[in-house]
Amino acid sequence: MCNIPMTQNDLIALKTWFAGYCDSFATSDKEDRKNFDVKRKHTADVCANMLLIAQDLGLDEQQALLAETVALLHDVGRFPQYQEYKTFQDSRSVNHAALGAKVLLESFVLLRLSKEERELVVRAVTLHNVLAIPEGLDDETLLFVRMVRDADKLDIWRVFLEYFAQPKPDQATAVALGLPDLPEYSPEILARLHQRKLVLLSALKTLTDFKLLQLAWIFDLNFIASLRIVAQKQYIDRFAVTLPQTDVIADAVDSVREYLNEKLGRGAL
Ligand SMILES: [Fe+2]
Repeated sequence: MCNIPMTQNDLIALKTWFAGYCDSFATSDKEDRKNFDVKRKHTADVCANMLLIAQDLGLDEQQALLAETVALLHDVGRFPQYQEYKTFQDSRSVNHAALGAKVLLESFVLLRLSKEERELVVRAVTLHNVLAIPEGLDDETLLFVRMVRDADKLDIWRVFLEYFAQPKPDQATAVALGLPDLPEYSPEILARLHQRKLVLLSALKTLTDFKLLQLAWIFDLNFIASLRIVAQKQYIDRFAVTLPQTDVIADAVDSVREYLNEKLGRGAL
Protein backbone atom coordinates (compact mmCIF):
# COMPACT_ATOMS: atom_id res chain seq x y z
CA MET A 1 0.00 0.00 0.00
CA CYS A 2 1.21 3.44 -0.78
CA ASN A 3 0.19 6.93 0.23
CA ILE A 4 2.54 9.09 -1.78
CA PRO A 5 1.51 10.39 -5.22
CA MET A 6 2.38 8.18 -8.16
CA THR A 7 5.62 8.73 -10.05
CA GLN A 8 6.89 8.17 -13.56
CA ASN A 9 8.32 4.85 -12.31
CA ASP A 10 4.85 3.72 -11.24
CA LEU A 11 3.54 4.45 -14.72
CA ILE A 12 6.43 2.50 -16.26
CA ALA A 13 5.61 -0.45 -13.99
CA LEU A 14 1.93 -0.26 -14.99
CA LYS A 15 2.92 -0.21 -18.67
CA THR A 16 5.05 -3.30 -18.11
CA TRP A 17 2.13 -4.99 -16.37
CA PHE A 18 -0.19 -4.07 -19.26
CA ALA A 19 2.24 -5.45 -21.86
CA GLY A 20 2.45 -8.75 -19.96
CA TYR A 21 -1.32 -8.77 -19.57
CA CYS A 22 -1.78 -8.38 -23.35
CA ASP A 23 0.81 -11.10 -23.95
CA SER A 24 -1.16 -13.45 -21.71
CA PHE A 25 -3.92 -13.43 -24.37
CA ALA A 26 -1.52 -14.52 -27.14
CA THR A 27 -3.14 -17.04 -29.45
CA SER A 28 -2.34 -18.93 -32.62
CA ASP A 29 -5.79 -18.07 -34.02
CA LYS A 30 -5.22 -15.36 -36.63
CA GLU A 31 -8.68 -13.82 -36.28
CA ASP A 32 -8.50 -13.61 -32.50
CA ARG A 33 -5.01 -12.14 -32.69
CA LYS A 34 -6.21 -9.36 -35.03
CA ASN A 35 -8.98 -8.45 -32.59
CA PHE A 36 -6.64 -8.40 -29.58
CA ASP A 37 -4.09 -6.35 -31.57
CA VAL A 38 -6.76 -3.76 -32.37
CA LYS A 39 -7.31 -3.20 -28.64
CA ARG A 40 -3.60 -3.12 -27.81
CA LYS A 41 -2.93 -0.46 -30.43
CA HIS A 42 -6.13 1.36 -29.41
CA THR A 43 -4.84 1.58 -25.84
CA ALA A 44 -1.52 3.09 -26.95
CA ASP A 45 -3.33 5.67 -29.08
CA VAL A 46 -5.84 6.54 -26.34
CA CYS A 47 -2.83 7.22 -24.08
CA ALA A 48 -1.41 9.60 -26.70
CA ASN A 49 -4.76 11.40 -27.08
CA MET A 50 -5.09 11.63 -23.31
CA LEU A 51 -1.71 13.38 -23.07
CA LEU A 52 -2.67 15.84 -25.81
CA ILE A 53 -5.83 16.74 -23.91
CA ALA A 54 -3.93 16.95 -20.60
CA GLN A 55 -1.41 19.28 -22.20
CA ASP A 56 -4.10 21.47 -23.70
CA LEU A 57 -5.83 21.72 -20.31
CA GLY A 58 -2.52 22.68 -18.69
CA LEU A 59 -2.61 19.79 -16.20
CA ASP A 60 0.42 19.38 -13.96
CA GLU A 61 2.81 16.44 -14.19
CA GLN A 62 1.06 14.53 -11.44
CA GLN A 63 -2.34 14.82 -13.11
CA ALA A 64 -0.85 13.91 -16.48
CA LEU A 65 0.58 10.69 -14.99
CA LEU A 66 -2.80 9.80 -13.59
CA ALA A 67 -4.50 10.67 -16.87
CA GLU A 68 -2.19 8.36 -18.78
CA THR A 69 -2.80 5.61 -16.21
CA VAL A 70 -6.56 5.86 -16.75
CA ALA A 71 -6.06 5.67 -20.53
CA LEU A 72 -3.65 2.73 -20.25
CA LEU A 73 -6.12 0.71 -18.18
CA HIS A 74 -9.48 1.84 -19.58
CA ASP A 75 -10.02 -1.17 -21.84
CA VAL A 76 -8.39 -4.04 -19.90
CA GLY A 77 -11.86 -5.63 -19.84
CA ARG A 78 -11.84 -5.98 -23.63
CA PHE A 79 -9.33 -8.84 -23.49
CA PRO A 80 -11.23 -11.30 -21.26
CA GLN A 81 -14.45 -10.15 -22.94
CA TYR A 82 -13.20 -11.18 -26.36
CA GLN A 83 -11.51 -14.29 -25.05
CA GLU A 84 -14.71 -15.59 -23.55
CA TYR A 85 -17.38 -14.27 -25.91
CA LYS A 86 -15.50 -13.49 -29.19
CA THR A 87 -17.22 -10.14 -29.44
CA PHE A 88 -16.76 -6.49 -28.44
CA GLN A 89 -20.51 -6.03 -28.22
CA ASP A 90 -21.30 -5.51 -24.53
CA SER A 91 -25.00 -6.23 -25.00
CA ARG A 92 -24.18 -9.73 -26.24
CA SER A 93 -21.53 -10.41 -23.60
CA VAL A 94 -20.55 -8.34 -20.57
CA ASN A 95 -20.05 -4.69 -19.72
CA HIS A 96 -16.34 -4.48 -20.57
CA ALA A 97 -15.78 -1.43 -18.36
CA ALA A 98 -17.13 -3.16 -15.25
CA LEU A 99 -15.13 -6.26 -16.19
CA GLY A 100 -12.02 -4.08 -16.53
CA ALA A 101 -12.51 -2.64 -13.05
CA LYS A 102 -12.84 -6.18 -11.70
CA VAL A 103 -9.62 -7.27 -13.45
CA LEU A 104 -7.77 -4.30 -11.95
CA LEU A 105 -9.03 -4.97 -8.45
CA GLU A 106 -8.28 -8.69 -8.66
CA SER A 107 -4.80 -8.26 -10.12
CA PHE A 108 -3.55 -5.99 -7.28
CA VAL A 109 -1.70 -4.03 -9.95
CA LEU A 110 -3.00 -0.75 -8.54
CA LEU A 111 -1.57 -1.33 -5.08
CA ARG A 112 1.45 0.76 -5.97
CA LEU A 113 -0.87 3.78 -6.20
CA SER A 114 -2.34 5.72 -3.28
CA LYS A 115 -5.87 4.85 -2.17
CA GLU A 116 -7.24 8.06 -3.73
CA GLU A 117 -5.49 7.40 -7.03
CA ARG A 118 -6.65 3.82 -7.04
CA GLU A 119 -10.26 4.77 -6.46
CA LEU A 120 -10.11 7.42 -9.13
CA VAL A 121 -8.66 5.04 -11.73
CA VAL A 122 -11.26 2.36 -11.01
CA ARG A 123 -14.12 4.90 -11.16
CA ALA A 124 -12.85 6.38 -14.43
CA VAL A 125 -12.42 2.93 -16.00
CA THR A 126 -15.92 1.95 -14.88
CA LEU A 127 -17.51 5.11 -16.29
CA HIS A 128 -15.59 5.39 -19.56
CA ASN A 129 -18.36 3.75 -21.59
CA VAL A 130 -21.62 4.80 -19.92
CA LEU A 131 -24.08 6.66 -22.15
CA ALA A 132 -24.28 9.60 -19.75
CA ILE A 133 -21.90 10.49 -16.92
CA PRO A 134 -23.76 10.21 -13.60
CA GLU A 135 -24.39 13.32 -11.51
CA GLY A 136 -22.64 13.93 -8.24
CA LEU A 137 -19.06 12.94 -9.11
CA ASP A 138 -16.29 14.88 -7.40
CA ASP A 139 -14.49 17.38 -9.66
CA GLU A 140 -11.36 15.30 -10.04
CA THR A 141 -13.14 12.09 -11.02
CA LEU A 142 -15.34 14.06 -13.41
CA LEU A 143 -12.28 15.58 -15.10
CA PHE A 144 -10.61 12.21 -15.72
CA VAL A 145 -13.84 10.52 -16.79
CA ARG A 146 -14.44 13.31 -19.32
CA MET A 147 -10.88 13.11 -20.57
CA VAL A 148 -10.83 9.36 -21.10
CA ARG A 149 -14.21 9.41 -22.84
CA ASP A 150 -12.90 11.98 -25.34
CA ALA A 151 -9.53 10.26 -25.82
CA ASP A 152 -11.34 6.95 -26.40
CA LYS A 153 -13.80 8.29 -28.98
CA LEU A 154 -11.04 10.08 -30.87
CA ASP A 155 -9.27 6.78 -31.36
CA ILE A 156 -12.34 4.65 -32.05
CA TRP A 157 -12.91 6.88 -35.09
CA ARG A 158 -9.39 5.99 -36.25
CA VAL A 159 -9.99 2.28 -35.68
CA PHE A 160 -13.17 2.41 -37.78
CA LEU A 161 -11.73 4.41 -40.63
CA GLU A 162 -8.83 1.98 -40.84
CA TYR A 163 -11.28 -0.93 -40.72
CA PHE A 164 -13.32 0.46 -43.63
CA ALA A 165 -10.17 1.09 -45.66
CA GLN A 166 -8.91 -2.47 -45.28
CA PRO A 167 -9.64 -5.35 -47.63
CA LYS A 168 -12.14 -7.74 -46.01
CA PRO A 169 -9.63 -10.53 -45.23
CA ASP A 170 -7.47 -8.10 -43.22
CA GLN A 171 -10.34 -6.68 -41.15
CA ALA A 172 -10.58 -7.44 -37.43
CA THR A 173 -14.13 -8.80 -37.45
CA ALA A 174 -15.21 -7.77 -33.96
CA VAL A 175 -14.71 -4.06 -34.75
CA ALA A 176 -18.01 -3.79 -36.64
CA LEU A 177 -19.94 -5.51 -33.83
CA GLY A 178 -21.24 -8.12 -36.26
CA LEU A 179 -23.67 -5.66 -37.87
CA PRO A 180 -24.66 -6.29 -41.50
CA ASP A 181 -22.81 -4.03 -43.96
CA LEU A 182 -25.93 -2.61 -45.62
CA PRO A 183 -26.73 0.90 -46.92
CA GLU A 184 -30.04 0.96 -45.02
CA TYR A 185 -30.26 3.25 -42.04
CA SER A 186 -32.82 4.03 -39.36
CA PRO A 187 -34.57 7.39 -39.91
CA GLU A 188 -34.78 7.92 -36.15
CA ILE A 189 -30.98 7.83 -35.98
CA LEU A 190 -30.75 10.57 -38.62
CA ALA A 191 -33.27 12.56 -36.59
CA ARG A 192 -31.01 12.25 -33.52
CA LEU A 193 -28.12 13.76 -35.51
CA HIS A 194 -30.28 16.76 -36.42
CA GLN A 195 -31.25 17.11 -32.77
CA ARG A 196 -27.58 16.91 -31.77
CA LYS A 197 -28.29 13.96 -29.57
CA LEU A 198 -26.48 10.71 -28.91
CA VAL A 199 -27.75 7.45 -30.39
CA LEU A 200 -28.40 4.38 -28.27
CA LEU A 201 -26.46 1.26 -29.22
CA SER A 202 -29.72 -0.68 -28.97
CA ALA A 203 -31.05 1.32 -31.96
CA LEU A 204 -28.49 -0.14 -34.35
CA LYS A 205 -29.60 -2.42 -37.17
CA THR A 206 -26.90 -1.95 -39.81
CA LEU A 207 -23.29 -0.84 -40.12
CA THR A 208 -24.58 2.41 -41.64
CA ASP A 209 -26.50 3.03 -38.39
CA PHE A 210 -23.29 2.42 -36.48
CA LYS A 211 -21.40 4.96 -38.59
CA LEU A 212 -24.13 7.52 -37.88
CA LEU A 213 -24.01 6.68 -34.16
CA GLN A 214 -20.29 7.35 -34.18
CA LEU A 215 -20.75 10.70 -35.90
CA ALA A 216 -23.18 11.63 -33.12
CA TRP A 217 -20.39 11.07 -30.57
CA ILE A 218 -19.06 14.48 -31.59
CA PHE A 219 -21.91 15.99 -29.55
CA ASP A 220 -20.58 14.22 -26.47
CA LEU A 221 -17.00 15.55 -26.64
CA ASN A 222 -16.06 17.51 -23.55
CA PHE A 223 -13.00 19.54 -24.50
CA ILE A 224 -12.13 21.97 -27.22
CA ALA A 225 -8.82 20.10 -27.73
CA SER A 226 -10.85 17.03 -28.71
CA LEU A 227 -12.92 18.98 -31.23
CA ARG A 228 -9.75 20.42 -32.67
CA ILE A 229 -8.40 16.89 -33.19
CA VAL A 230 -11.67 15.93 -34.94
CA ALA A 231 -11.15 18.87 -37.30
CA GLN A 232 -7.43 18.20 -37.83
CA LYS A 233 -8.00 14.54 -38.62
CA GLN A 234 -10.97 15.41 -40.84
CA TYR A 235 -13.01 12.70 -39.18
CA ILE A 236 -16.39 14.03 -40.33
CA ASP A 237 -15.42 14.13 -44.00
CA ARG A 238 -13.69 10.75 -43.80
CA PHE A 239 -16.76 9.17 -42.23
CA ALA A 240 -19.03 10.90 -44.74
CA VAL A 241 -17.38 9.19 -47.73
CA THR A 242 -18.06 5.77 -46.20
CA LEU A 243 -21.80 6.53 -45.91
CA PRO A 244 -24.43 6.04 -48.64
CA GLN A 245 -24.35 9.15 -50.84
CA THR A 246 -27.90 10.41 -50.43
CA ASP A 247 -29.22 13.93 -49.80
CA VAL A 248 -30.78 13.08 -46.44
CA ILE A 249 -27.55 11.61 -45.14
CA ALA A 250 -25.57 14.56 -46.51
CA ASP A 251 -27.92 16.90 -44.61
CA ALA A 252 -27.40 15.00 -41.36
CA VAL A 253 -23.62 15.05 -41.83
CA ASP A 254 -23.83 18.80 -42.51
CA SER A 255 -25.58 19.35 -39.22
CA VAL A 256 -22.71 17.61 -37.41
CA ARG A 257 -20.20 19.71 -39.37
CA GLU A 258 -22.10 22.83 -38.39
CA TYR A 259 -21.92 21.85 -34.71
CA LEU A 260 -18.15 21.39 -34.93
CA ASN A 261 -17.68 24.73 -36.68
CA GLU A 262 -19.84 26.49 -34.12
CA LYS A 263 -17.86 25.05 -31.22
CA LEU A 264 -14.49 25.76 -32.77
CA GLY A 265 -15.55 29.22 -33.88
CA ARG A 266 -16.64 30.07 -30.38
CA GLY A 267 -13.32 28.76 -29.07
CA ALA A 268 -14.59 27.32 -25.80
CA LEU A 269 -16.79 24.55 -24.51
FE1 LIG B 1 -13.85 0.76 -23.85
